[in-house]
Amino acid sequence: MMFRIARSRAGGSITHYDLYKVDTKNGMTVLDALFQIQDRMDPSLSFRYSCRGAVCGSCSMLINKEPRLACRTQIADVKGNDMKLKPFPAITETPKGWNSDGEILIEPLPNMPILNDLVVDMTKFYDGLESMKLWNETEDGDTSRSQNPEERKKIERYVNCILCALCYGSCPINAVKEEYVGPAALAKTWRFHEDTRTVDPERFAKTATQPEGAPLCDLILNCVKACPKGVAPGGAIRKIKSL
Ligand code: SF4
Ligand code: FES
Repeated sequence: MMFRIARSRAGGSITHYDLYKVDTKNGMTVLDALFQIQDRMDPSLSFRYSCRGAVCGSCSMLINKEPRLACRTQIADVKGNDMKLKPFPAITETPKGWNSDGEILIEPLPNMPILNDLVVDMTKFYDGLESMKLWNETEDGDTSRSQNPEERKKIERYVNCILCALCYGSCPINAVKEEYVGPAALAKTWRFHEDTRTVDPERFAKTATQPEGAPLCDLILNCVKACPKGVAPGGAIRKIKSL
């Protein structure tokens, strides 16, 4: 299988695409293919990974124009256009010469500056999360707060977020509005709003509805399709909008 991979050096934009022939076998993932390329053909290829098991959220990238985790995407399953994302330039503009039938196209996750090859600078994504002040205030003498299984169930899907930023990279609003905190930050803010242990839910309602938050979302819902953990941030954003 041929892999066409976006390359860049010292930050900035994609400078060119390199082609590699990968020996594939059953069950092989896109991340396995990148390891093979790095080990046998090109040690200069840069990409992020850690857990190799869809837990750490490090290996997010664009695979055949769809935002996916490389460690969770089997080569045999890569088709493209499965997610039916609402189009925006990063996922519609294809490189010259790409043969979508015989090649897998790998590019860095959109909406963030490129540091090197497939490694992007996630500062904006984390800044958005940090701006929401996602912690509970406690006071001296606070006792622990328990939660029953039904209450926990209400926040379960938001707790599953692995901060992979696939929602951020798939969002047409994040593509054009620097100030938008992004879908994951809003889903996590809603989780604190809904958590029965939260002392002041109103604080989270306020941050989620600030101008850089839910008001900027157009409910395009690419985030729901791209999220690998079923967090479906769009559902939380819809609830925030209704506040
Ligand atoms: S909401 Fe989903 S896509 Fe977004 S960071 Fe969390 S796990 Fe990743
Ligand atoms: S390497 Fe951890 S999610 Fe892919």
